[in-house]
Amino acid sequence: MSHLIAPSLLAADFTQLKHEADMLNQSEADWYHLDVMDGMFVPNISFGQMFIKFFRSLTDKTLDVHLMIEKPERYISSFRDAGADMISFHIEATNHAHRVIQSIHNSGAKAGIALNPQTPIAAIKHLLEDVDMIVLMSVNPGFGGQKFIYETILKIQELKEVLTARNLNPHIEIDGGVGLQNAEALLKAGANVLVAGSAVFKSQDPVSTIAQLKRVGVKNLHF
Ligand code: DX5
Ligand code: ZN
Repeated sequence: MSHLIAPSLLAADFTQLKHEADMLNQSEADWYHLDVMDGMFVPNISFGQMFIKFFRSLTDKTLDVHLMIEKPERYISSFRDAGADMISFHIEATNHAHRVIQSIHNSGAKAGIALNPQTPIAAIKHLLEDVDMIVLMSVNPGFGGQKFIYETILKIQELKEVLTARNLNPHIEIDGGVGLQNAEALLKAGANVLVAGSAVFKSQDPVSTIAQLKRVGVKNLHF
């Protein structure tokens, strides 16, 4: 299966959200990536369930909700009720990761586990059988438009090796500082879902940028 593009609405024009949704719907974007921030787990506050619900009413595409909140177990059912298809939470934000994954699955959504740049793959090795997606943060979460942390490439390779050895195939999503300049390297390392905020919404022609991100392929690599 070819890779997936998940534009992050954090970089959208908030005065034109209906227009941004129309644009994404007409584009080759696979998912909407929605960044929920609580001002505790990360220094920033973004938006919550009502915002998710708003986009649910505007699209049939997958809503990929990235919870950057402390104790995500408190809010799983309400984000599912709001329309989330995929719910990712941070391993650093809870002492009960298994239970959170279970409650996401019980709600009917797919479950993702996210890791900050400083968190090693080893921290989730006991969860790999249970999740539908692993989100590797390639910036410190909290803000869009930050610089990609290069070491993420090595982390993707490490994760991919562990997954292959265990015959597992969850999505590997990379989030932060992703764009046309590094998409190929990320895919080659083993990622298959690319989140792109600024690279899409701050570009001259977001629909064409999404199409270009979609066309980036390992087969086009020149060695
Ligand atoms: C960062 C968020 C990202 C962010 C990506 O905390 O999780 O999804 O919106 O934005 P860019 O692509 O601009 O780095
Ligand atoms: Zn995100």
